[in-house]
Amino acid sequence: MSTSTPRIIIALDGFSSSGKSTMARRLASRIGYRYIDSGAMYRAVTLYALDHGMIDAEGQPRAEAIIAALPEIRVDFAVQPDGTQHTMLNGADVEAEIRRLRVSNAVSGVSAIPEVRHALVAMQKAMGAERGIVMDGRDIGTVVFPDAELKIFVDASAETRAQRRFKEMIDKGAQVSYQEVLANVVHRDHIDSTRAESPLRRADDAISLDNSYMTVEQQDAWLYDRFCETVNRL
Ligand code: DC
Repeated sequence: MSTSTPRIIIALDGFSSSGKSTMARRLASRIGYRYIDSGAMYRAVTLYALDHGMIDAEGQPRAEAIIAALPEIRVDFAVQPDGTQHTMLNGADVEAEIRRLRVSNAVSGVSAIPEVRHALVAMQKAMGAERGIVMDGRDIGTVVFPDAELKIFVDASAETRAQRRFKEMIDKGAQVSYQEVLANVVHRDHIDSTRAESPLRRADDAISLDNSYMTVEQQDAWLYDRFCETVNRL
């Protein structure tokens, strides 16, 4: 790509385990953009809350305690020698920890707290200030970057998504059942799309993609084509 090609913002939103992170990460690496997994930021705040007794026995967040702790929670990303990024919580690498089921089970509640969202959205907007970024999440095309040049909304059935997440977790050695993972996916879909503060919804100007029956390579090719179309139009 020529150096005069404009650097744009690419927003990918969708339900959990829809494959959007894989697509986003691979596109960013192909086109030399920064990739940000905004879900990892909500997961890191959730991990902090779990480790500091801010989630009650029913899995509900103690919102006041979490809001009071926000100034002490620093989330960033460290680029690894192989080019991947690890999520850092107050300087500690928490990349593996934030993917565990105990975090997945509590994260929707924490991410429904408006003050948590405001703090993380402000950080995300700052990360996109220089453009040339691919970010995935739930509200990237609607709230974080409503002016993103390319917006994608990824969908797939709950069963397909649970199957993917289950395989990923088993490959990493986790002891979980498919039913547990499916229940978590369905539960999070419900909370993410019904919460009062920035619920998951497709931006009016987003392009929809149902990738239930696509391979990773087909997704990559489809997304790269949308990227080329977008920059060629500018
Ligand atoms: O993409 P993920 O499954 O790792 O996201 C974890 C949770 O974070 C998800 O249940 C909803 C929340 N989230 C959000 O509310 N807004 C975002 N931009 C990204 C994630």
